[in-house]
Amino acid sequence: MFGKIQISNKIFWLGVNDRRKVLFENIWPLPEGVCYNSYLIVDEKTALIDTVDFCAGQSFLDTVEKYLDGKTLDYLIINHMELDHTGEVAGLLKKYPDVKIVGNINTRRIFESYFGAVSNFLDVGKGETIELGYHKLSFIMTPWIHWPETMMTYDFTEKILFAGDAFGTFGTLNGGIFDDEIDFNVYEGEALRYYSNIVGKYSGMVQKAFAKLVGVEIKCICSTHGPIWRSNPAKIINLYDKWSKYDADEGVVIIFASMYGNTEHIADYIARKITEAGVKNIKIHDVSKTHISYLIRDIWKYRGVILGSCSYNAEMFPPMEHLCREILHISIQNKKLGIFGTFSWNGGGVKNLLKFADDIKWEQVSEAVELRGIPAEEDYSKYDAMAIAMAQKVKQYKYNNIFV
Ligand code: FEO
Repeated sequence: MFGKIQISNKIFWLGVNDRRKVLFENIWPLPEGVCYNSYLIVDEKTALIDTVDFCAGQSFLDTVEKYLDGKTLDYLIINHMELDHTGEVAGLLKKYPDVKIVGNINTRRIFESYFGAVSNFLDVGKGETIELGYHKLSFIMTPWIHWPETMMTYDFTEKILFAGDAFGTFGTLNGGIFDDEIDFNVYEGEALRYYSNIVGKYSGMVQKAFAKLVGVEIKCICSTHGPIWRSNPAKIINLYDKWSKYDADEGVVIIFASMYGNTEHIADYIARKITEAGVKNIKIHDVSKTHISYLIRDIWKYRGVILGSCSYNAEMFPPMEHLCREILHISIQNKKLGIFGTFSWNGGGVKNLLKFADDIKWEQVSEAVELRGIPAEEDYSKYDAMAIAMAQKVKQYKYNNIFV
């Protein structure tokens, strides 16, 4: 249990670490856990910005009461209705029945479907502000980051952006709460896994949110997941800008589907040739072993993607099919693609990977290579050509930070 964590004189962090949950949203593995951040402003009027997951139980309500120090809770601001942030709402409503719920028309619709009709609802969807005393709050509608009702709360007084899921990461806060208290290199992989799998489908909406934030002075970012960015908010803003523009690093992820090792052998060969062509960042994944969230993360991270599949019942290998479907579903853009595969008595893997390539519209760097059985000596030149073409494509890249 942390002691009292103050973001400023009147603003408190009420976060909770969750190391017990195995799967976020019952789908995404949490090897490093996750935290849920809630924020309390104790001014002449009081406001709680988001709550936390059910896992906190009564201790969260007790902490709210303690920090309120005899005051009542005037406002419950709902930046995001997903239940990892509204798990304590029912308890709060019992304890503070007169609290005013703050959100927008979509918030209200979802809120009432979970907690019943509310009469004390303040719709701030059209530019309304709230005066708490010293603090004055406004609200920025940021739909689909990552549900339709999502919004951000901005404190004019101290230039703090309470951002909801945006700028968040998987991973618990292990002592360090603020960006200057942690080594973010430890979190960056989980931050991208969070972005690519949870928020990434809505990257266009992230860019629309950035457009709304132009000219807004931001001294501190308080996300609902991960550290509070009080020293260098530009760091996470630039990362989110880069990720949501589908800008990627020089590197290649090779994902293979292999029943008996032939396709894996080719993956290793291609990786070696890409290395010889001067690319240092290469990841190879077995689609049958690595959770799809890591595959999606690495596809997001690197500019080049090479997919190799054996055939299976005249189709591509089922886990590869699952991966391709997910890539199409979240509509990852701007990749360079290579395709290869193997078969023993009929094809199917490459044929269906080519259908995927047509649908996703990534640039294919060379012709797909499919062969029966184990590659013969003369087959390897085709993989050499793919590796060299891929290396050339992924080296043509430079991202410029929007904030410095
Ligand atoms: Fe952290 Fe979309 O919930």
